[in-house]
Amino acid sequence: MLNSGTKLGSYEVVAPIGAGGMGEVYRARDSKLGRQVALKVLPEEFARDTNRMARFEREAKLLASLNHPNIATIHGLEDSGGIRALVMELVEGPTLADRIRQGPIPMDEALPIARQICEALEYAHERGVVHRDLKPANVKVTPDDAVKILDFGLAKALEGDPASADIATSPTISRMATQAGILLGTAAYMSPEQAKAKPVDRRADIWAFGCVLYEMLTGKMAFRGETVTDTLAAVIKEDPDWSLLPANAPTRVRVLLQRCLQKDPKQRLRDIGDARISLDEVLSGAPDANAAAASAASSPGSRRLWLIAAIAAVPVLAAAYFAFLYFRPKPPAAAEEVRFQISLPERTTFTGSAPSLSPDGRTLAVILTGADGKSRLWIRSLNALDAHPLEGTEGANGWPFWSPDSKSIAFVAMGKLLKIDVSGGPPQALCDVGLVLGGAWTSDHKILFSPAGPLLEISESGGQPSSASTGRTGAFPTILPDGRHPGRTKSTCGLSIPPRAPPHPTQRPSRASGWSRKAAEAARSGAATARNCSIFLTTA
Ligand SMILES: Nc1ncnc2c1ncn2[C@@H]1O[C@H](COP(=O)(O)OP(=O)(O)OP(=O)(O)O)[C@@H](O)[C@H]1O
Ligand SMILES: [Mg+2]
Repeated sequence: MLNSGTKLGSYEVVAPIGAGGMGEVYRARDSKLGRQVALKVLPEEFARDTNRMARFEREAKLLASLNHPNIATIHGLEDSGGIRALVMELVEGPTLADRIRQGPIPMDEALPIARQICEALEYAHERGVVHRDLKPANVKVTPDDAVKILDFGLAKALEGDPASADIATSPTISRMATQAGILLGTAAYMSPEQAKAKPVDRRADIWAFGCVLYEMLTGKMAFRGETVTDTLAAVIKEDPDWSLLPANAPTRVRVLLQRCLQKDPKQRLRDIGDARISLDEVLSGAPDANAAAASAASSPGSRRLWLIAAIAAVPVLAAAYFAFLYFRPKPPAAAEEVRFQISLPERTTFTGSAPSLSPDGRTLAVILTGADGKSRLWIRSLNALDAHPLEGTEGANGWPFWSPDSKSIAFVAMGKLLKIDVSGGPPQALCDVGLVLGGAWTSDHKILFSPAGPLLEISESGGQPSSASTGRTGAFPTILPDGRHPGRTKSTCGLSIPPRAPPHPTQRPSRASGWSRKAAEAARSGAATARNCSIFLTTA
């Protein structure tokens, strides 16, 4: 512990600020430049290790080159009297952890904070720097609501052998193994790949960003256990409690959280810039995405719940009843809702995408994960009792959508937009894609899809995507009845809301709440017993 007045080169310690996993932090005065700085004193055993220090100095150089208004700047490294300290920009104001301790942060304050976090991450990621320890305690919010991220890249710079990404060599984890609070505070934001000691990349920051945004909005950690082991187990296995999100959380925010908190980094949002674009859309007041997406994101445990949205064993009578209601003539404006019960095929789980009904109303498509752990596109004809997977669709994710003739489906897998004939045959790759928030297939042979920004357009036979001629922005495009122009239709297909979820304004709660609750609870607990759930269709 350094006393006030202690001199480190031209820096004079004023007062301690706090101590964390990596050492003590002091407020100090820079006598040369006449400004206040923060000194992070490096652990003694670390400073004595010449190899480690040499590597740290190399890393620190890269970190010191980061120059962004939302990242606390590293000014330099001071070595004086056997003490080594990192000299950093002093950031006033509480940390986000202090703010959240007082309760959830209202949406209109939380989103601008989240957006600034995205900007900082985007800037650093573009320069190849990953934070690796993003958490509310490492984010400060200054009195004028500017965000400053602390400790950028320090976790990597301070870690042990760089060849091993072992969780035990994480500076916080290894040093603070005896200080359960700090250790617990770090474990809760680790991505599943970090928790499993696998190599990490910027997608770990995207995960942590999802955890931070969830916590801002709910006041509760997304993953939490009584012990570090429990916490890491929750990170690896459990879903956040989506029902804690405020009822006014926009669809885009719910979808964004789901994409950030995908356990499999390959299925996760690929670029934090896409998160910034989504937040910009919300902040600019763009109309919210459609109801099917809303229900996908708003149901608690919805990643597994949507699962249920799929398949198998619809009694033939129910299908016939549905078909009758769906096809009979009706006045254009009168919305009609049809509900029926289906359950998942054996040993499959739901991946998180909404089921998609073919335009002719006869076939459901849904993405399910099978017993081999692989996700695939499954097809369930409504006049059949079984669903079947389409071969060649391994790794399918996102929201599949149909061709206007109901013969083909477009879907995303392995970073590509593909189409496949429902009657069989291999899928055809159309183009490379990142995150795709839904798409639509027009009768003039174009496919529109939303990469979370302005709509892109591609020929149904593939090629290079270009900006959609409509110039529209937004997720989950739909096609107007003319078959060509994007718009908002009133037909939706999705799950009924389990009772614990706040109802989405466009949905009415399920009448059959008995088994619906059972399904929701089963999905939350991971039990495979209650496999039924309700599907609704609303048409106009
Ligand atoms: N540049 C800074 N300006 C102002 N306060 C800072 C600065 N850097 C750290 N602090 C504060 O000093 C205290 C200790 O920070 P430290 O980073 O060591 O711990 P931590 O963030 O809790 O955990 P970790 O070691 O995992 O980052 C915290 O209260 C933090 O907000
Ligand atoms: Mg810190």
